Amino acid sequence: MNLQHVIQSQQFSVPNLMELFGRTRQMETIVRRGGTRDYDDKIMASLFYKPSTRTRFSFESAMYRLGGKVLSTESAKSFSSAIEGEQLEDTIRIIANYCDVIVLRHNEEGGAQRAAAVSPVPIINAGDGGGGQHPTLALLDLYTIYNECKTLDGLSVAMIGALDTGRTVRSLAYLLSKFERVKLYFLAPPEMQIKQDIINHLQEHDVSFQLESDPSEIIPKVDVVYQTRIDRERLQGKEVDLSQYNINPDMLKRMKSDAIIMHPLPRSVEIDPVVDRDPRAAYFRQSQNGLFVRMALLTMLFDKE
Ligand code: CP
Repeated sequence: MNLQHVIQSQQFSVPNLMELFGRTRQMETIVRRGGTRDYDDKIMASLFYKPSTRTRFSFESAMYRLGGKVLSTESAKSFSSAIEGEQLEDTIRIIANYCDVIVLRHNEEGGAQRAAAVSPVPIINAGDGGGGQHPTLALLDLYTIYNECKTLDGLSVAMIGALDTGRTVRSLAYLLSKFERVKLYFLAPPEMQIKQDIINHLQEHDVSFQLESDPSEIIPKVDVVYQTRIDRERLQGKEVDLSQYNINPDMLKRMKSDAIIMHPLPRSVEIDPVVDRDPRAAYFRQSQNGLFVRMALLTMLFDKE
């Protein structure tokens, strides 16, 4: 696969995904053995305009496990020339002189695309704006589903939360739409439902989906419950019972015995910590997979040269 930038999840075909997942399995072995020095001539810059725990740390860890080096700012709005009004494009042109790949989390939707348009080195979108995409998270989500469910065809997946602004859900919906007989359920209060661009994409690709506000009928049917946070402030003044969307022991009882629970994290109240003890809780395994998938992605970008 000739991978130049990683901007949106739609850019990956099924053969690309299988190549990535093959490499990801190799990375699991490499990490168990303590890493490799194969990429010790490579430098990764991580440029984050918005806070991150998992994405930034896992990318930086990935680069170190590959033997490479990292340049980093975790608060680029304050600790870069952005504070002097420097435009993203200029910042990218400068930083690209010092590294082999840039991992960018930008506060504006389309930020990664703007960066890629001027960058001579690969740009990896680590999340753009409030309603953009988070493709590397969707890749690790898909890898987790593949690992846990042993297939990607014929699955029923419920996505819960503030779906309109959910970058992770948006990116994952694009990826899941590439597989056979997938059924997607979008469970959210009507004012937070998935946006029309995703609906259009699913219709164009003949993917079965359903929009619902009541999770009770859907939860017992699905193989994957993909939970995300709901920003309570957005519903102020409206009578919405958000507790119906929470994963708690009651909801666990209604789920299939072999279903899995995922969450991009960080979580708030939407998953009761007692759920962590249930073997179906896959969210910590999911975040660990982020390291392996991001190592694999970096090698795909470096190896094409
Ligand atoms: N899920 C996710 O992207 O986490 P961070 O914001 O901590 O990177």
